[in-house]
Amino acid sequence: MIVTIDGVAASGKSSVSSGVARALGIPYLSSGLLYRAATLLGLEGGAVLGDEVAVLAALNSHPIHLEPIAQGNRVWQGQRDLTGDLHSSTVDHGVSIVAVLPGVRAWVNDQLRQVAPPFVAEGRDMGTNVFPQSGAKFYLTASPRVRARRRAQERPEDVDAIEAALIRRDDLDRVQSAPATDAHVIDTGPLDLQGVIAAILAGIAER
Ligand code: DC
Repeated sequence: MIVTIDGVAASGKSSVSSGVARALGIPYLSSGLLYRAATLLGLEGGAVLGDEVAVLAALNSHPIHLEPIAQGNRVWQGQRDLTGDLHSSTVDHGVSIVAVLPGVRAWVNDQLRQVAPPFVAEGRDMGTNVFPQSGAKFYLTASPRVRARRRAQERPEDVDAIEAALIRRDDLDRVQSAPATDAHVIDTGPLDLQGVIAAILAGIAER
């Protein structure tokens, strides 16, 4: 079984995916963390983020490994745990530039497709592009204001600045973020975390 959970930035995908995966007793895979790792390593390697050759060179300098821990995925480059550095505002700002590079998308997709099911896959294009064969697809939305308020609890910036950055990122990520035609779309605005997890588990049980 492959469950796909896609959605816009800060729609709660990671916490929801972790909760669904734990309820099902299977791992979850965060594709966004791999895009973030590519961005961090590109920045550290001095690459111009739109330069695919330079970003891929930074990425391939040491093997990257996504560790699918149920409580929260971790990303390693050799012995270095990159995870704590992947949610900075600098990475938030650059990741959409890196995520449109075809070579980086191929690298992420290849890493994910090497994992043996069952799992929950979380991102933007899990249901459309990476695992279109999934029979359990979900897509999370919420207004920019609701998402900014949630994110303000994790970032030092104020709600207005976060909302503006989210709207910018929605726009840049639009191409790869369309919901699959067979996805259940869930507006998470009126729901808390447990409510979203329950809605997805009910959707899976219905199949
Ligand atoms: O889910 P997230 O916000 O951590 O994702 C970080 C960025 O990576 C986001 O701006 C879009 C990109 N992304 C993508 O293009 N495709 C995916 N499957 C997952 C993330």
